[in-house]
Amino acid sequence: MTDKTVLVLGGTGKTGRRVVDRLKERGAAVRAASRSSAVRFDWDDRTTWAPAFTGVDAAYLVDAQDKPGAWDAEAAIRELSGLAVDAGVRRLVLLQARVTERVGGKSLIAGESAVRESGAEWTVLRPNWFFQNFDEGVLLDGVRSGTVALPAGSGREPFVDTDDVAAVAVAALLDEGHAGQTYELSGARSLTLDEAVGEIARATGRDIRYTAVDHQAYVDELIGYDVPADYALFVADLVAQIRDNKNAEPTDTVRRVLGREPRDFSDFVKDAAARGVWDV
Ligand SMILES: NC(=O)c1ccc[n+]([C@@H]2O[C@H](COP(=O)([O-])OP(=O)(O)OC[C@H]3O[C@@H](n4cnc5c(N)ncnc54)[C@H](OP(=O)(O)O)[C@@H]3O)[C@@H](O)[C@H]2O)c1
Repeated sequence: MTDKTVLVLGGTGKTGRRVVDRLKERGAAVRAASRSSAVRFDWDDRTTWAPAFTGVDAAYLVDAQDKPGAWDAEAAIRELSGLAVDAGVRRLVLLQARVTERVGGKSLIAGESAVRESGAEWTVLRPNWFFQNFDEGVLLDGVRSGTVALPAGSGREPFVDTDDVAAVAVAALLDEGHAGQTYELSGARSLTLDEAVGEIARATGRDIRYTAVDHQAYVDELIGYDVPADYALFVADLVAQIRDNKNAEPTDTVRRVLGREPRDFSDFVKDAAARGVWDV
């Protein structure tokens, strides 16, 4: 149990929600914040920043770097980290991504130096693609429709469960021994999209298929759905990291930090199928 007060940005999101639940189980006073939360925090509205951080011991930072437009992750996270430390926050855990090259012209690890230089104890989390993209996120509509069309070729990705990411985040927020660490978080197995979607098809008994599409054709298709061009390129470049096997090697970080294996994709698929999330 702990007497710490912890702020969770992105507290309604895929990792943030699970961080909130796990912090509560540990007895922490939790402040979940986002644009739609009771504690309002908006990266685009600086008047919301200081109130959210007042009286907080540790904070989980989820940025908004995947939004289109002129988002400058490093500048925003640097400004926020400085404000947090001035408000007395002693520990910062920053969620980034296991993507080391630029996507859509942006770096997804640009904010890391800001927390490292903040003066707070810091931990950086760099997860691979989440399992929950298939049942809560960007891939859900495709799975439900029966066709997951992506420019991922036959590349491999060691998808990770957001609950494992949240468990590591909570350890870093509450326990000792994680300060100054950059954790690359993956699941235990690298899967192609064909294999991942195949597992979902078998578990649901539905005809669901992965189709590899061309990078530019995918960008054009998204633009055709009124997705802003810079965001379309961002998403396609992100998927191209899978196609090119950029982050395909599983890491042992979840086991090192939590003392147990990461959750397997098959277990996730079995549970999600039983919940009926992919039923149509
Ligand atoms: N999805 C993946 O596979 C994956 C893999 C590795 C790393 N990541 C990283 O994880 C982070 C979150 O991505 P996600 O796709 O998983 O999203 P998510 O956490 O499921 O949702 C985004 C969260 O941020 C909040 N939010 C969105 N815009 C905001 C803003 N302008 N100001 C304040 N809060 C805002 C949302 O709540 P409100 O709408 O209520 O504001 C929500 O709680 C990103 O930095 C991404 O790079 C994602």
